[in-house]
Amino acid sequence: MKDLLKLLDLSREEIVRILDVADQMKYDQKHRLPHPRLQGKTLAMIFEKNSTRTRVSFETGMFQLGGHALFLSGRESQIGRGEPVEDTARVLSRYCDGIMIRTYSQEEVEKLARYADIPVINGLTDFAHPCQVLADLMTIRERKARLEGLKMCFIGDGNNMVNSLIVGCLKVGMEVSVACPEGYDPHPDVLAFAREAGHGFSLVRDPLEAAAGVDVVFTDVWASMGQEEEAAQRRAAFRGYQVNEALMAVTDPGCMVQHCLPAHRGGGDHRRGL
Ligand code: CP
Ligand code: NVA
Repeated sequence: MKDLLKLLDLSREEIVRILDVADQMKYDQKHRLPHPRLQGKTLAMIFEKNSTRTRVSFETGMFQLGGHALFLSGRESQIGRGEPVEDTARVLSRYCDGIMIRTYSQEEVEKLARYADIPVINGLTDFAHPCQVLADLMTIRERKARLEGLKMCFIGDGNNMVNSLIVGCLKVGMEVSVACPEGYDPHPDVLAFAREAGHGFSLVRDPLEAAAGVDVVFTDVWASMGQEEEAAQRRAAFRGYQVNEALMAVTDPGCMVQHCLPAHRGGGDHRRGL
């Protein structure tokens, strides 16, 4: 398979293989061992939403692997003037060796991959954030030395992060409990996958119930990129869906806390009221 569009498309073995290769590359980089796996290759990076970490990690990673990364902002490229995704896919396939895209709709990313001859990587859509969750799994495995059998919970919005976390964590054999307020559940396709998995998944309304005895707590912002207008309504809906001392008190004593950031610390971005 050439693309990385969502974790639903990957097998458990493919996820573990990606983590193994990433561990090796991290070791090589740390020990200054040459690892020019992408020498002479160019990655086009399309950003239709803001980013700090994803842009910097992909761009730096391409450099460290001997390749080149090309930043294309949606606004300044022809994409922003309405060039069809089919044409973008075809032209980038002629110049580049891979495409990473951060945008709103998952369908757009799937369409880009259908028309491109080169691999397409999802750098975040409203539906999924697969690279973030692969990195989270890498961190958990680094700290806990295993994944299978660990328990995690997610507290908050049923958004792109939790959609990818549910699939990624269940596929590697973790137990997953999610606490969302009513009306903010994860995507139905993801819930269908989790329920088919048969065991190891629960969706509840009470954060303390979800967090009981877990090894890892995840959370994310209440208003994601593109939902700025809903910020006030969401602040009210998510009151109580916080990671605080009371919540941590019911987790396993060695529990880790993961947050993909960007940081809107203290429950909000103080400049924009999120
Ligand atoms: N975690 C993450 O995707 O961060 P950015 O939005 O800064 O890329
Ligand atoms: N759910 C957040 C994740 C940011 C990395 C968003 O989509 O804005």
